[in-house]
Amino acid sequence: MWRVKSLDAILLTAEKKSLHRSLGAFQLTMLGIGAIIGTGIFVLTAEAAQKAGPGMLLSFVIAGFVCAVAALCYAEMSSMVPVSGSAYTYSYAVMGEMIAWMVGWALILEYAVAAGAVSVGWSGYVVGLIENAFALDIPNTLVRGPMDGGLVNLPAAGIALLVTCLLVVGTRESATVNAFLVVVKVVALTAFVILAVPAMNMDNFDPFMPLGFGGVSAAAASIFFAYVGFDAVSTAAEETKNPQRNMPIGLIGSLGICTIFYLLVASGVIGTVGAQPVMDAAGLGLRPGSAELTAACETVGATHVVCSKEALAWTLREIGWPQVGNLLGLAAGLALPSVILMMMFGQTRIFFVMSRDGLLPGVLSKVHPKFHTPHVITIITGVAVAAFSAFFPVGVLADISNSGTLFAFAMVAVAVVVLRRTDPSRKRPFRTPAVLVVAPLAAIGCVYLFFSLSAETKLMFLAWAAIGLVVYFLYGYRNSHVARGSVETHELDSDAPPGPVPPIPGA
Ligand code: ALA
Repeated sequence: MWRVKSLDAILLTAEKKSLHRSLGAFQLTMLGIGAIIGTGIFVLTAEAAQKAGPGMLLSFVIAGFVCAVAALCYAEMSSMVPVSGSAYTYSYAVMGEMIAWMVGWALILEYAVAAGAVSVGWSGYVVGLIENAFALDIPNTLVRGPMDGGLVNLPAAGIALLVTCLLVVGTRESATVNAFLVVVKVVALTAFVILAVPAMNMDNFDPFMPLGFGGVSAAAASIFFAYVGFDAVSTAAEETKNPQRNMPIGLIGSLGICTIFYLLVASGVIGTVGAQPVMDAAGLGLRPGSAELTAACETVGATHVVCSKEALAWTLREIGWPQVGNLLGLAAGLALPSVILMMMFGQTRIFFVMSRDGLLPGVLSKVHPKFHTPHVITIITGVAVAAFSAFFPVGVLADISNSGTLFAFAMVAVAVVVLRRTDPSRKRPFRTPAVLVVAPLAAIGCVYLFFSLSAETKLMFLAWAAIGLVVYFLYGYRNSHVARGSVETHELDSDAPPGPVPPIPGA
């Protein structure tokens, strides 16, 4: 279980593939912003307010900082090992198969569960938009999950299945569509800032930390979700001109720009409509996604942003801009599906690589004869994402997703340092600056955020990890291609899907 897949075997692929180095700092930054801005800021702002009150501003800074140091570690690994599979592949080369498997298993949380969270976020905005634009009152039963005062969230499941269909027929987001959606998101957030910030009342910032620093940490662990997606930048390392210069600009630039937007937007929410948590009789903050908060929101909901499923649109309506609120809802409705698409695409790629490595059954990496996409795994992923989004609230899904992401990021930070020791002379197109400071900071930051997640989330993660170990020892341990000594044959086209893929011998 400590067997590694040699870096040289992995890199065979990259050499064969040799992508054109065309991306500069600006395109990378756009790519990052496109992947980062989503449900986190549009929806989870309400969640963060419930956990930290106005102190959520600190939470945004903490989460952004942890992502920035983790991003610098990611960039070194992805520039050295620019093939599919992200943290899973790096871990396989550095820390052995069992850890790689656990990272891949955790990435299922990062990608698939996150896709579910974004689907629920999308549903909140679209339902709010329809209700406000057409003066309708859609019953919660069919547009919210059971923990949110409904029965099943049909729009969320519907968008997840629609995106699945797009992925099966081979849709990949084009640079043009990405650029358009980045503009849509940035314009929507800018409009929000322009209208909300001048209307702020500084009294709303007091008390700043109604639930103490513990609340700020808990909100940071949740709002971390708002920054996830920057790995899209690091995985483009191979296509980047002068990566040593442009990678850090793209990573830190996109994270920096998003952080500034997030702080302005959060300040706008706090300053205009207030962001004090809804408390129980004992003065404790009610847990987001709990039946208690849902019940409390039934009575105070109309006056608290923390009860809104579309925090930013709701705020604009409250401060007298209902039409702009609807337009912002429309922007979220247009832009969020691309985040779902990217997440689900990432998930299918990870499954694909794991299946091709023999750690999952080969049938999963079967490619559709006409569409050249891994349809089997895409459909399985899509159905699972639709099920999560139909029945769970956005905050619960985002937290579970964060637990997996934090584990994977921490492992990448460890891998960077280990590889500097074990393989110091290998070419590193991008080197993490001050690695002995940055990598430990990233690992410690991830551990700190992980432990700031709710007890339920940590328990879910542990249960998921335990199931993962059982699956590994029952299947992957015996079927691994590295174990069978047949590595190279599977590296021929490692960046598929989509595209024709050579059949796996014996699969
Ligand atoms: N950062 C992405 C979002 O907030 C995942 O939706």
